Amino acid sequence: MSSPLRLGIAGLGTVGVGLVRIIQRNADLLALRAGRPIEITAVCARSRTRNRGVDISGYAWEDDPVTLVRRDDVDLVVELMGGENGPAKALTEAAIAAGKDVVTANKALLAMHGLDLARAAEEAGVALRFEAAVAGGIPVIKALSEGLAGNRISCVKGVMNGTCNYILTRMEDAGLPYETVFEEANQLGYLEADPTLDVGGIDAAHKLTLLSAIAFGVQPDFDAITTTGIERISIEDIRAAADLRLRIKLLGVARLSGRGLEQSMSPCLVPADSPLGQLKGGTNMVVIEGDAIEQVILRGPGAGEGPTASAVIGDIIDIARGLRLPVFGQPVATLQPAVSARATAAKPWYLRMTLLDKPGALAKVAEALGNAGVSINRMRQYGHEDTRAPVVIITHKTTRDAIDHAASLALATGVLVGEPVAMAIEAD
Ligand SMILES: NC(=O)c1ccc[n+]([C@@H]2O[C@H](COP(=O)([O-])OP(=O)(O)OC[C@H]3O[C@@H](n4cnc5c(N)ncnc54)[C@H](OP(=O)(O)O)[C@@H]3O)[C@@H](O)[C@H]2O)c1
Repeated sequence: MSSPLRLGIAGLGTVGVGLVRIIQRNADLLALRAGRPIEITAVCARSRTRNRGVDISGYAWEDDPVTLVRRDDVDLVVELMGGENGPAKALTEAAIAAGKDVVTANKALLAMHGLDLARAAEEAGVALRFEAAVAGGIPVIKALSEGLAGNRISCVKGVMNGTCNYILTRMEDAGLPYETVFEEANQLGYLEADPTLDVGGIDAAHKLTLLSAIAFGVQPDFDAITTTGIERISIEDIRAAADLRLRIKLLGVARLSGRGLEQSMSPCLVPADSPLGQLKGGTNMVVIEGDAIEQVILRGPGAGEGPTASAVIGDIIDIARGLRLPVFGQPVATLQPAVSARATAAKPWYLRMTLLDKPGALAKVAEALGNAGVSINRMRQYGHEDTRAPVVIITHKTTRDAIDHAASLALATGVLVGEPVAMAIEAD
């Protein structure tokens, strides 16, 4: 058997400890599959004394992540600290500069600096792998860059943030308002330290940035994604959706059209009985459409110690086997700037508005929609609240631009209380 692959692990939190556990538990299996032993030689975290529930006494300790990289007994650096800048970026750059392969789970780092890091890795001839950065335990990066590499991809979409899916599912199952479930999720430790990363759709948009780069051969560009969070979804929306046999999901969609690449991360409605509609709790799902496969659906745990560490070790085994792949599936110089297109695909839309309960209000709104070229398919009124009348409108197929125009005309009528909530209805 060949010489061991020696790891330096920076970060011993949820994922880092998960990785240590897999390596300790499955050492023989890993050696057989990788063709050489996989050993941890050095680790690094902030607190040296914290009990992490695993035995790390056999590994050298480094206080400084960059020092870890410079050790002669570290061949491959595993970055599991997180954060878009700071130590994670410094460590990754230092590892590449030192000619060492890197495996990371850090979507923020790659979504914001992926192009520069990929270029540096390519020039240095080192691997930079990030399976764990997207959809936790689902091997979606591998699926896109290897198994489906022969396809022209037309669409990648899915649910990629388990916390948002947990919140939306729990609101429906327990009939609870957003604020209550948000607080529950916080108590359970499901939210990032900065919760807007989750509920603002940013974490999921980071992931879509990476999938788009591989699927469509574009430079990773987080700013090209139109991102809307779930903060404005109310229990009324959840109930109205259920009434229409639909469910609300924070859905990422990257779709290639004649005009360019439409990329959005936003709450959408999907049929309740569809695979996306049936997705519960923290589970993730990615739907990939290509010219040869038509559609492939991948579903699995989107986060957590075991699933995320499983994705990390998969990358490590590939490197141990000597597999070398371009970071984003093709040479960096061939990645094109993402020509972002406004979503032009016509879809039915859901509009929820609260009208002042006075004669002619509904007619004014209907006229505003008509003036924007939006025609109404169905309309439901959900009981009066004092002087207010909540109304849900399902439109015939129309574009995002027309909906935005209709919403601004409706607001200008002066008969609305607050802004309308608009969500596209995505067929599965
Ligand atoms: N958790 C998940 O389910 C999941 C899923 C997919 C991807 N990821 C990604 O995986 C990465 C790690 O996530 P996690 O959940 O494992 O995070 P975590 O539990 O917060 O652990 C972070 C670790 O990094 C260490 N660290 C932070 N700053 C450091 C510094 N300046 N120097 C040295 N060590 C430092 C911390 O040390 P101390 O322990 O001493 O504080 C801790 O051990 C992130 O990029 C995250 O986005 C996580």
